[in-house]
Amino acid sequence: MTINLTRRLMLTGAMGSSIAGAAACVSSVGAVKPAVAEAAFPPKAGIDPYLLGPKEGVALLSRNENPYGPSKSALDMIEYAATKGAFYTSRDAQVKLVEMIAEKNGVAPEQVVVTTGSGEVLSAIALIYGPKGPIVAPRLFWDTTALYAVNLGLAEIQRVPLAADMSIDLPAIEAAVTDQTGLVQLCNPNNPTGLVSDAATLQAAVKRMAAKTTVLVDEAYIELSDDPAANSCVPLINAGHDVIVTRTFSKIYGMAGVRVGYSISSAETAEKIRATAMSWSPSLSIAAAIGCYNDEKFLAMSRSKIQEAREMVNATVDTLGLTRLPSQTNFVYFKSGQEANDVQQAMAEKKISIRGQYMDYNEWTRVSMGKIADVERFCKALPEVLRA
Ligand SMILES: Cc1ncc(COP(=O)(O)O)c(C=O)c1O
Repeated sequence: MTINLTRRLMLTGAMGSSIAGAAACVSSVGAVKPAVAEAAFPPKAGIDPYLLGPKEGVALLSRNENPYGPSKSALDMIEYAATKGAFYTSRDAQVKLVEMIAEKNGVAPEQVVVTTGSGEVLSAIALIYGPKGPIVAPRLFWDTTALYAVNLGLAEIQRVPLAADMSIDLPAIEAAVTDQTGLVQLCNPNNPTGLVSDAATLQAAVKRMAAKTTVLVDEAYIELSDDPAANSCVPLINAGHDVIVTRTFSKIYGMAGVRVGYSISSAETAEKIRATAMSWSPSLSIAAAIGCYNDEKFLAMSRSKIQEAREMVNATVDTLGLTRLPSQTNFVYFKSGQEANDVQQAMAEKKISIRGQYMDYNEWTRVSMGKIADVERFCKALPEVLRA
């Protein structure tokens, strides 16, 4: 771990900043220059070098992060932005990122809202639509932000059982939607199942449901799916359907700790979301997102490393004869046949962090992809843990 951290710092420092005009400022953040990288980390005596990121020796495979990020393009911009940390995030920087997102998705800048992780925009959406009526959602989905509104007494979640193959049961969701529904919340690909809904079926169902209520499609992992363009519901927005899509820089971009996410919707809905979001993103985060948003080389590398890790996990699970879902994300959900919390505990004893039980899916385990060496540790440990 120390080696990795040091390497990362040395790389960052060695690359310096590619930002024109930033060179003078870069020297003022000399703490990350290669010559002093070892001594500079931890930055102050008494600060644990593992304060951020995985603890020493731990394979962190529980939170769907992507340890291949941030990219060099993002790190360069963070380094630059750090030197401007005295100043509030500039409107120009926010506009720049919004324009980049709008351009890539074929929408107008007014339709894009950038927030501190997609968690913030999803929370804002839950606050807007929760009071209107139940949030109809599949039984298993990333429910943190809907629960945020529930906990405030502002929403209620109406969970619809999954289909037999654990995919989102779209006909059943559609049947549950009425004029009283506050919001339909779908996650494509879904978390924790990792499953992508069939594009044509999903889009047809979303269109019909959006005639009755607002439909939110959380596309946090869409870039990791086999065909992101075909799977995305963004085109439905410009076709005039009442649809909101959210995305994040936490997954394929590997910036979960940097905290940038966004929504795409009609301009009118975007205005409501903007008014409800509670904060504005740090300049370091906006700068990082600008740096890497169109870094296709990094994205391809990230995708291929995640796929490589996923194939390793799939092969291990298959060799053990266990059932798994065909994931198009950076995590795999499989049925170990043993209590998920016991499997989690046994892995923790080997310093491998994975997810415990979801709802009453007590024999299902979710493991996230990570650095290949960490995933290898999981693959080696799994038969030992299940045999014990
Ligand atoms: C489906 C889904 N949506 C959204 C999020 C929130 O991500 P963030 O707030 O980091 O953008 C997560 C986090 O794991 C997730 O799994």
